[in-house]
Amino acid sequence: MAVRTPFIAGNWKMNLDHLQAVAFVQKLHWTLKEAGHEVGSVEVGLFPPFTDIRTVQTLLDADKIPFSLGGQDLSMKDSGAYTGEISGAFLKKLDCGYVIIGHSERRDYHAETDEVVSAKVQAALRHGLTPVICVGETAADLEEFGASAVPVGQLRVALEGVPSAADIVVAYEPVWAIGSGQAATPEQAQDVCAKLREVIVDVLGADAGERTRVLYGGSVKSGNIASYMREPDVDGALVGGASLVVDEFAAIVRYQKHVGV
Ligand code: PGA
Repeated sequence: MAVRTPFIAGNWKMNLDHLQAVAFVQKLHWTLKEAGHEVGSVEVGLFPPFTDIRTVQTLLDADKIPFSLGGQDLSMKDSGAYTGEISGAFLKKLDCGYVIIGHSERRDYHAETDEVVSAKVQAALRHGLTPVICVGETAADLEEFGASAVPVGQLRVALEGVPSAADIVVAYEPVWAIGSGQAATPEQAQDVCAKLREVIVDVLGADAGERTRVLYGGSVKSGNIASYMREPDVDGALVGGASLVVDEFAAIVRYQKHVGV
């Protein structure tokens, strides 16, 4: 079985300005170093606001800090008269490797449909960015359709036209678990992540299914991360609130050292 490097991704959302970002990234790097964290055992990804990215890129480069960088969204267009939009080309120029697409806050507050998400996935791939495709059901969906039907449907649309060799990451984020403190159980996360992997195998093939990382997101904390990471189809986490506190995020990154893992 192909080894999938665990991926712990911090989605800062609209938090931390570029000066706060510098202090945060330096402290996180120092904290992980002090703890003897083995670089390479876990990939650490940071998803700051757009206005921080140039600053964070410069810091990672200057201090040789081994964190991956990504945007929280991108435009489906490449350039032109689209006020307020950010092109994937701009993110790539700033050494971003990743971009989050279809986060439930974008789907909800910005009315992003599955078709918009699909167009953004194509835009990310055009610019050599790895899309972190977010899918997940609301509490109402959960009641009406169960846990997996909505995220599976969302992923099928997002993967339309994606070549089988493409690098993608999928994040299962039940909307009811985001920022609520009411995290999914490890069994729930495993169940849906396994079904999402089946979709990847079905659409992109067995190799893609083996190598693609499927993350869980929604109220992940240092106290519950290890329980998710024990599940065979959960390859990491997309962390919101807990990614803004250095010690907490560092403890999440260090889940392999938690007792019982
Ligand atoms: P949360 O957010 O960790 O604060 O629940 C997760 C996310 O929205 O990615």
